[in-house]
Amino acid sequence: MKTDRPSVICITGGAGLIGSFLTKCLAENKHVNSKIVVIDDFSTGLQSNLFPFKNNIEIREGDLESKSFCNEAFTDCDIVYHLASRAFGIGYSSQNQLEMLIHNERVTTNLIDTLRKVKPKKLLITSSSCVYDDNSQTPIAEAPIFDGYPEYSNRGYGWAKRFLEQKSILLSQETGINLITVRPFNIYGETYKWRGDASQAIPMLVKKILSKEKSIEVWGSGDQRRSYIHALDCARIMHKLMELNYNCGPVNIGTQETVSIKNLVSIISKLSQYKPKINFNIDRPEGRHNKSSNINLLSEILPNFQYSITLEEGMKRMLDWYSKVFDPKNSE
Ligand SMILES: NC(=O)c1ccc[n+]([C@@H]2O[C@H](COP(=O)([O-])OP(=O)(O)OC[C@H]3O[C@@H](n4cnc5c(N)ncnc54)[C@H](O)[C@@H]3O)[C@@H](O)[C@H]2O)c1
Repeated sequence: MKTDRPSVICITGGAGLIGSFLTKCLAENKHVNSKIVVIDDFSTGLQSNLFPFKNNIEIREGDLESKSFCNEAFTDCDIVYHLASRAFGIGYSSQNQLEMLIHNERVTTNLIDTLRKVKPKKLLITSSSCVYDDNSQTPIAEAPIFDGYPEYSNRGYGWAKRFLEQKSILLSQETGINLITVRPFNIYGETYKWRGDASQAIPMLVKKILSKEKSIEVWGSGDQRRSYIHALDCARIMHKLMELNYNCGPVNIGTQETVSIKNLVSIISKLSQYKPKINFNIDRPEGRHNKSSNINLLSEILPNFQYSITLEEGMKRMLDWYSKVFDPKNSE
């Protein structure tokens, strides 16, 4: 009797923040005749994030900057979710623009070159809201695409994501691979690996408040507004887009609702019952004043999608995670 080989679903960066929730989603919805493969170098991903699904997945550990590893890692892939990239907070990104561009570009070049030969059926690439110009209208819609420059404070990373998008379009046109492009806005969650001063805003604030620091420096005026969604909801959306075979251009993943950084600090302080003194450093970059996502397109594609985690619930999870799994006082 003929037995088909299992369909191989690869997730690059599957041990990271969004990737670990996506791996969970896929492991929970796994078809009998499929194999889930996480490709990760664990540079910012955690082995422990994959522990709950270790019997349901295969791990291929290595750096996608290496061409030979990239070729080996994808040999049998049918479906690819590409999430691996160096993604850091504004403090690091704004000081290391070229490094962000070069690393992410190397990964992109290797990935595209490999997939051109392997020709999986479907590819989902994770771009970013940093591809948008600082002067684009808020809430930011998908069109017009690439009007102006990428977000200034993250321009190295933003250019790398624009290149990833453009190269993937050519790959799809040349090979017929079904391409899904997502542009997440600010995503947070409790599987985030602490990376010191290079950490993103929410983990940074949560850690400082949990560490009971007497005063906390916040970059900018604190009035800058951001829209946040939990990584679980971002992963659920990615999974649904892949299942739908959606392939009609980039989709924002975010929300229209915003919160100011000042309010975010208040929410975390209230939940942790600790109120530090806040010093707003207006000499430091705060990025664009108001950044939120127009989600008309997403709502059109997934009309019944409901976000499952509110900001307050998400902050509770972050506080719980950092106080249980990770001792902020001992880590850097
Ligand atoms: N978190 C956000 O707010 C946000 C917003 C927009 C876009 N994104 C994008 O979503 C994706 C996932 O982001 P995240 O927040 O989960 O980041 P993350 O740093 O938590 O996860 C990235 C994962 O990729 C792995 N990785 C990095 N470089 C690699 C390499 N060269 N080879 C193999 N593995 C490598 C890391 O070990 C990690 O597991 C990234 O592409 C990021 O640019 C994230």
